[in-house]
Amino acid sequence: QEEGEGGEEYLFKIVVIGDSAVGKSNLLSRFARNEFDSNSKATIGVEFQTQVVEIDGKEIKAQIWDTAGQERFRAVTSAYYRGAVGALIVYDITRRSSFDSVKRWLDELGSFEIDFTLPFHMLMLQLIVVATVECLTPSVVLRALKYPVYLDFAGSGTKGLAERALVEVEVWLTHCDTAIARMLVGNKSDLDNIREVSRDEGKSLAEEESLFFMETSALDSTNVEAAFEVVIREIY
Ligand code: GTP
Ligand code: MG
Repeated sequence: QEEGEGGEEYLFKIVVIGDSAVGKSNLLSRFARNEFDSNSKATIGVEFQTQVVEIDGKEIKAQIWDTAGQERFRAVTSAYYRGAVGALIVYDITRRSSFDSVKRWLDELGSFEIDFTLPFHMLMLQLIVVATVECLTPSVVLRALKYPVYLDFAGSGTKGLAERALVEVEVWLTHCDTAIARMLVGNKSDLDNIREVSRDEGKSLAEEESLFFMETSALDSTNVEAAFEVVIREIY
């Protein structure tokens, strides 16, 4: 929860994740622009969109990150989960494999860690990725950057200092993970006749993992606004 710059009071980052072709991009385009594309192309990497939502008379700015579900983008997209305070984990009710993947997506959501076994220059790169992906406040980044080793990128014999800086950053990151509002979304509810995952299965997985749950249709608009709003309201 940050103070917005353009007069909005709140800025929330929300990520939309799940297997390829479950309908993530269409859920977002339905929510943001009331559009549906029956021929939409697979997302490459990540795209984001800012949407202003009014809740209880307050303007909430939601920055919604639509990520690629395709396996080959996995390494890139997971770096962008950092800093999210809300997540929609989407599966396709007509495709069981996409439901089976939900646990993996959940693991990934909470698993970005700084890997101290990486070569030093990779550690630095990771820090930069983490920092640019927003969760770090400028003061934390600055504090980390004050360690002399950051001024000497080649870093000779000062790895201990870098590690201390990174520990500090990591503690901060762990802390900013705690309150993420998560919604399990079974999309394509309009295709009830060819459904492979029952509503009850979705509901019980959500209960097991302490997630909100909704079935949606980006095609006929069912619950699309509601799904985003529940997450935003929960964060707020
Ligand atoms: P990646 O970007 O590859 O991760 O896929 P995605 O999850 O963004 O899927 P996308 O939104 O591109 O939708 C994939 C296909 O499913 C498209 O052909 C959409 O038109 C279709 N689709 C999306 N939502 C619905 C829905 O609610 N009902 C139906 N019937 N089709 C949908
Ligand atoms: Mg997409």
